[in-house]
Amino acid sequence: MSLSPSRTPLPMAGHTRGNRSAATCHFKCGDACLKAEGSTSTSPSFAAVAEASLSRRNLLLGLGVVAVAAGSSAVTAQPAAAAPGKGAGGGPAAGAPGTVGPKGLAFTPIASVASTVDELTVPQGYTWKPLISWGDPVVQGAPAFDLDRQSPEAQEKQFGYNCDYLAILPQGRGKALLVSNHEYTNENLMYPGFTSEEALTPAQLRTSIAAHGLSVVQLRRGKDGFWEVEPSKLGRRFTGLSTEFELRGPVAGSDLLKTAKDPSGRRVVGTLNNCAGGTTPWGTVLSGEENFDQYFRGDAAGDPRNRDTYGLVDKDGKVGNGRYWYKVDDRFDVAKTPNEINRFGWIVEVDPRDPRSTPVKHTAMGRFKHEGATTIVARKGNVVAYMGDDTANQHLYKFVSRDRVGGGGKGGRSEVLDAGDLYVAKFSAEGDVTTDRDGTGEWIPLTKDGQSAVPGMSLEEVLVFTRAAAAKVGATPMDRPEDVEPDPRTGYVYVACTNNSSRKAAGPANPRTANKYGHVIELRESGDDATGTRFDWSLLLVCGDPADPTTYFSGFPADKVSPISCPDNVAFDKDQPGLWVSTDGAPSSIKRNDALHFVPLTGPERGRVSQFLAVPTGAETCGPWIDAADGSVFVNVQHPGEVDGAVVDRPASRFPYGAGSQRTPRPSTVQVRRTGK
Ligand code: FEO
Ligand code: CA
Ligand code: CA
Ligand code: CA
Repeated sequence: MSLSPSRTPLPMAGHTRGNRSAATCHFKCGDACLKAEGSTSTSPSFAAVAEASLSRRNLLLGLGVVAVAAGSSAVTAQPAAAAPGKGAGGGPAAGAPGTVGPKGLAFTPIASVASTVDELTVPQGYTWKPLISWGDPVVQGAPAFDLDRQSPEAQEKQFGYNCDYLAILPQGRGKALLVSNHEYTNENLMYPGFTSEEALTPAQLRTSIAAHGLSVVQLRRGKDGFWEVEPSKLGRRFTGLSTEFELRGPVAGSDLLKTAKDPSGRRVVGTLNNCAGGTTPWGTVLSGEENFDQYFRGDAAGDPRNRDTYGLVDKDGKVGNGRYWYKVDDRFDVAKTPNEINRFGWIVEVDPRDPRSTPVKHTAMGRFKHEGATTIVARKGNVVAYMGDDTANQHLYKFVSRDRVGGGGKGGRSEVLDAGDLYVAKFSAEGDVTTDRDGTGEWIPLTKDGQSAVPGMSLEEVLVFTRAAAAKVGATPMDRPEDVEPDPRTGYVYVACTNNSSRKAAGPANPRTANKYGHVIELRESGDDATGTRFDWSLLLVCGDPADPTTYFSGFPADKVSPISCPDNVAFDKDQPGLWVSTDGAPSSIKRNDALHFVPLTGPERGRVSQFLAVPTGAETCGPWIDAADGSVFVNVQHPGEVDGAVVDRPASRFPYGAGSQRTPRPSTVQVRRTGK
């Protein structure tokens, strides 16, 4: 049966993405994997460039991806799945030899897990526990979770829905802070008796707005070594409903950002669709406002640039008002509050250590569907942030701060992000055969020294309508660049391109036409200077079932890797080398549950993808946070049971309670810890 018979018809009705709900897919990302948005540049697509480079590279190296993969099927070649370290109600598993992974997190890869399995699967010798779930108390005095007694007031103090990015920030003496994004809501899995979004009550609509944003949660070390939640005055919610943010940077106060309620153009209520993120050298957290357009009811009289470039549709298009938030707040109605939408789509910064601090939206870093932002301190001391715009054929960006900080980020503070240059990436097929790189590239400035660098566009136009600026300068349309993160050891930058079904350019190898499985690019700044304007790049992974001859694992034998599809988040441990990659889309593309993988980046093991865990049915693996010294991996299990037709009373998952439970699934932060020898 359909998810909501009386729902506004969706543009993708009838479309199926494996077991992901079409409706929630729509709400989550505006169908980013189905369509491109806005104008894109006319430069050669990344597919064309990469295809040419991969062919050239194969010739040079004598690789031949078909030969590498021929006859292999890593879906079945992996070791049999170990028993879950600790399923719901299960006990710790026995110890196991570690065959892959870094020091502190050696593990035997698990077999990929069928997308119907409703379990969190971890390697032998590892145990998992939910740390906190949707609705659990965050702020002191918050009520306990009660599915039948939800309210905006309670949700404002409780852990939000659909946790995405997470960070664990040590405080010493057995304490730490968890910071978690809450990207979006699945009303069908939140409210008993749900029939349709249109039928939600005003209180439910406001509860959903409050379930967006971020949480800061105080943790203490438990006796068993796992973290546990501790009530604290540091517990804090940032929500879509009530938290005031300060707009800062070059275009704060611009006319494009003013509303009747905020004539200053500098104060915004709420943050929405916070997807990935990163930490700063000064201990704060950056978070990307991603698919913000879905919350607004469009209007033909609104600024056409939000419609043409950011996917907003007018009120008759039925897409932008699918959430019906405009019924409870005029600011979500473009006809009534035309500029409110311009106040979303930024990188936000929160200071988890100061519960009284005002969170910030950074206009210098541009406005687009920000997946996230991760920083590195360049040799000269500039803070550099790498950022993806997660929509088909959108772009890869970096921000270089004007001001410099000391070694290791010493002296850094939030204001460093107020001024700097914004660049967008243009890839080229011109390789450097002497260093075995697939191609080169250029960072094209969009702003320079506080001025627009784009002919015909003012500074405020460049920063508020950044997508248009990127297209104008010929940036390379990418396959949905999601998380982008520099390796803290080498400065090499890893770009997860999750998929792009709207790609037109065909090719025999990856990136592919209708790139279903995604890929990971390794980018190296020229002279290893993160502030520079030239780079070279290589394909690290071309994802998919390794039996598929179009996959590529940096030359590592395909019969020895785990299947991997739709890379979304990438992460590094602060001490131990190697890339961790989580996925969002394996169920629909390769019929396996989404996963977390480990990939060595150097030596003969480079490209060896090994699966560490699998999340339960309908879920996505988010926010991996790696603490190898502690033998711990943290993941956010987002949207468990997000399956077409599922509702609270008839869920597809019982996570985190286990198959025998009658309870509704709850998105949760999970700690996985090595407990066996
Ligand atoms: Fe929210 Fe780009 O995933
Ligand atoms: Ca993501
Ligand atoms: Ca990351
Ligand atoms: Ca995602």
